[in-house]
Amino acid sequence: MQKVVAVGADHAGFPLKEDLKAYLKEQGYEVRDVGTDSVGSVDYPDFAVRVAEAVASGEAPWGLLICGTGIGMAITANKVPGVRAACCADPFSARMARAHNDANILTMGGRVVGPGLAREIVKAWLESRFEGGRHARRTAKIEALEERVGRGGQRERSAPGGPGPARGEGHER
Ligand code: RB5
Repeated sequence: MQKVVAVGADHAGFPLKEDLKAYLKEQGYEVRDVGTDSVGSVDYPDFAVRVAEAVASGEAPWGLLICGTGIGMAITANKVPGVRAACCADPFSARMARAHNDANILTMGGRVVGPGLAREIVKAWLESRFEGGRHARRTAKIEALEERVGRGGQRERSAPGGPGPARGEGHER
């Protein structure tokens, strides 16, 4: 079994990322660290997209992203088709994120969970398995939505004269 985890963090998640890298290595996982490398201020989307693309391309089966809350990382990662990122602050949610949602990226808040709890969350997520069955029917609907919104929907929104006012037509506040 391939045991590669792509990991990334912004400045608020950097200390926890470093701790979890050590934990993952102890557990026998190969870690691909996309940064950041310090507590200097950076923008979380820059790191979320690197991990999301590594997971979506199959380069890494799993991804771990940490920012202050885990929320910005999840919002960004979920923009990449094929990614199912779950922001978790407890082991039960992490287990369900895998078992029911087949989450391939876990996000956490370095300002929310301490290192001990974070290790428990990572362990619960990595050691759980997708249950398939009715849950596979549901994740297939997410994939169908990605197809519709990412392709046809995108074309509709960018078409000249499409629905909604264009920028500069008085709707900005
Ligand atoms: C950075 O201050 C913070 O906004 C970021 O780490 C994250 O929590 C965003 O979701």
